[in-house]
Amino acid sequence: MPVPILNLKLQNQPLEGDLKAVFDRVLDSGRYILGPEVEQFEQNIAQAFDAEHAIGVSSGTDALIIALTALGIGPGDEVICPSFTFFATAGSIARIGAVPVFCDSQFIDFNLDIDDLTRRVTPKTKAIIPVHLFGQAARMDRLMDFARDKGIFVIEDAAQAIGAQYQGRQVGGFGDLGVFSFYPTKNLGGFGDAGMVVAQDESLSEKLRLLRNHGENPKYHHLMVGGNFRMDPLQAGLLNVKLPHYQEYLQKRRNNAAYYSKELSNIAGIEAGTQWEGERPREPVENPDPLKLAALRPDMPTSNDERVPTHCILLPTEKPGCLHTWNQYTLRVIGNGKRDSLKAFLTERGIGAEIYYPVPLHRQKCFEHFCVDYRESLPVADELASQVMSIPIFPELTVSSKDQVIESIQDWVKSNHE
Ligand SMILES: Cc1ncc(COP(=O)(O)O)c(C=O)c1O
Repeated sequence: MPVPILNLKLQNQPLEGDLKAVFDRVLDSGRYILGPEVEQFEQNIAQAFDAEHAIGVSSGTDALIIALTALGIGPGDEVICPSFTFFATAGSIARIGAVPVFCDSQFIDFNLDIDDLTRRVTPKTKAIIPVHLFGQAARMDRLMDFARDKGIFVIEDAAQAIGAQYQGRQVGGFGDLGVFSFYPTKNLGGFGDAGMVVAQDESLSEKLRLLRNHGENPKYHHLMVGGNFRMDPLQAGLLNVKLPHYQEYLQKRRNNAAYYSKELSNIAGIEAGTQWEGERPREPVENPDPLKLAALRPDMPTSNDERVPTHCILLPTEKPGCLHTWNQYTLRVIGNGKRDSLKAFLTERGIGAEIYYPVPLHRQKCFEHFCVDYRESLPVADELASQVMSIPIFPELTVSSKDQVIESIQDWVKSNHE
């Protein structure tokens, strides 16, 4: 049986009756933009994820755009974000005329490297957007201390991480603003596009409400130039049906991750990622000599090393103090071309595998003019982009599907590394 990377129908079909009732209700209400369904969803999100204020918007991308706008960020300002993330993080910075400044990531959790970030701050730096990538929090204590000390705003891109926790606190609530996405593949996935900004500060939340609707108050009087970033009641109502099931979905994802980690780490050649904390990449080397590289990092894999490494796959890990929501279970496949080989092997067997993300943002054509200085200086982002591969982790995955994934990976490891 094929194992897809994701099957949204399996989650949504059991709720069919309740979901259809939402459509009937919204149809009958005659109200198709904002309104009580959206307000109810905002209250529910604020309550479930410990936010003072929640403002429903049209997508996670739009949530980032109005968050930046509400903080007064615009042309000439610099905003630091990781290069190894989904495009929207930096795209939204560029869309408002600001400059995305890319920082490197760390291997342990794929999240931004705060040491590297601190080196990229200039007097023009107005904000930082940490991304809680794949569902695990970035290091928010250190980041917030640093940002507060420098007077720099923080917008958390929690698009992939609703419900994730850092030191017992919900993500989204550390920074000045937090952003969620309800894109269908997210842990709380809608039936189209939708997003949310969470805020702790009342005046910021009022500004966000104005901005999402052309800065209008009262009708036809515009206090600021906003846009159409409104959430629709149909989407809000449907998400209200799914929200009570969120913890159950999350627990299933966590169980799947635990199962993979236990079973996969029993396979020779596959290691848990924890031991790689603090791992730093080598400096970029032209025509690397595998023996020299091995001498530089005797205990670490070298992706340019053509000899058989002692391990070829590193597993993702939940860091101490974090509650990981496992939006993705992302492997690092070590060795030139090995990741693509494993992906092709799995595809052949009908197993879904995806690469999030094959091209780091500092290498994107559209950011070329921002990035001349960074090309050689984001080695972890570059290395991750060549190594990562995500495997199916969706809540409804059966034990036999998981076993199929594990067996196939084991077969690939055997055929490649013995
Ligand atoms: C890290 C990250 N930021 C922002 C977004 C944008 O969210 P949306 O697709 O809802 O616009 C996404 C969603 O794909 C994302 O993964």
